[in-house]
Amino acid sequence: MKKIAVIFGTRPDTIKLAPIILELKKHQKDFSVVTIATAQHRQMLDQVLDVFKIVPDYDLNIMQAKQTLASLTQKIITALDEVLEKEKPDMVLVQGDTTTTFVGGLAAFYRNIPVGHVEAGLRTHDKSNPFPEEINRRLTSCVADIHFPPTATAAKALQKENIAKGSIFVTGNSVIDALQIAVNQNHLFSLPILNVLTAQKRKIVLLTMHRRENWGAPMKGACEAVKDLAKKFPDMNFIFPVHLNPVVREIVYPILGKSANISLIEPLDYLDFVNLMAKSDLIITDSGGVQEEGPSLGRPILVLRNVTERPEAVQYGTVKLVGLEKKNIFSAAAKLLTDKKAYRTMAAATNPYGDGTTAKRTVLAIQRYFGLTKKKFIPFTPR
Ligand code: UD1
Ligand code: UDP
Repeated sequence: MKKIAVIFGTRPDTIKLAPIILELKKHQKDFSVVTIATAQHRQMLDQVLDVFKIVPDYDLNIMQAKQTLASLTQKIITALDEVLEKEKPDMVLVQGDTTTTFVGGLAAFYRNIPVGHVEAGLRTHDKSNPFPEEINRRLTSCVADIHFPPTATAAKALQKENIAKGSIFVTGNSVIDALQIAVNQNHLFSLPILNVLTAQKRKIVLLTMHRRENWGAPMKGACEAVKDLAKKFPDMNFIFPVHLNPVVREIVYPILGKSANISLIEPLDYLDFVNLMAKSDLIITDSGGVQEEGPSLGRPILVLRNVTERPEAVQYGTVKLVGLEKKNIFSAAAKLLTDKKAYRTMAAATNPYGDGTTAKRTVLAIQRYFGLTKKKFIPFTPR
């Protein structure tokens, strides 16, 4: 019996680890599971835990308003070390590229505990984009012993960094496992206004923004573009669940707060969010996870970034990078909202990131790592 400690702390890493936690728990003969929430996020983490009915064994409760990267790092490593010393797990699992991810990996490394990295190998090769995530994931690769890249492209990036091929398992992305659990054609929104807005025969444009490298002028420019779009298309509903980061809110509310057809709302719980994605005509976002979910739902995505570590859906044509220039965002969105042919070209559903079996693949790779099974590992390939 091996003890696996799963460390998470923000909205996206928790959404993507939830299916893996649930799968690990199905293998009671092989694994005991210890769940550790750093609570780098608080409300946005709790929303995810509620949806997946996960009650962490440890909740480090470290979030503070307007926390700095340094204070986060220091608090997480100190609190995690105590838990790892007590629990002595056989492996630590972390996901993605947040501060919780990197520091979770480092804390395990300091205690000589093997590290498994879920969603490994994403790279832009630009250390400022995304900031600080590009460095978080590179550093996590340095301390990881077993790597779970979602795609063949991500696996190649790891091999280029001389990571042993035998430690790399292409699993797909567990965000698609989560999505398959969450999307339901008959979903009744827990936020009543969404039932009203989605029942109207009006197009829906869904927005999210939060990236640190976009704070300030770039994010302001993107908001101005959205304000102009809402003015040009008064018969469409623009819905924007605003991230709880105060820096983001201080930019978004003054620019977009007074437009009649823009609904600025609180972050949605995961079920409401993905089911709203499924009912949206266009999604404009700088989110990593949303870029992965959109293609699977056949929703065109305009990405508010200049580079992406998720090139697959751009190649498939469902995702387009529009950067942060106001006029580029406006013209790309206006074209999709008026030109049916351009819209149809982008709206085809594709699955470059997963087929819903990533958690199973990940758990199988961990069983093989510990010699618990001889079952063959079959890498994920897009259909
Ligand atoms: C973090 C991650 C980022 C990820 C994003 C997902 C780092 C450095 N950043 O960015 O990679 O893409 O989460 O959303 O790991 N806040 C709340 N309640 C919450 C969450 C946040 O009030 O539930 C506020 C707090 O004031 C907090 C601030 O937002 O101090 C920033 O949170 P933090 O986790 O440091 O950064 P994010 O911008 O959320
Ligand atoms: N999401 C959510 N509620 C929202 C907005 C997003 O549940 O109001 C989900 C979304 O479906 C995706 C994840 O949060 O799975 C993305 O998180 P975020 O954009 O905060 O972080 P990133 O993926 O950019 O790191």
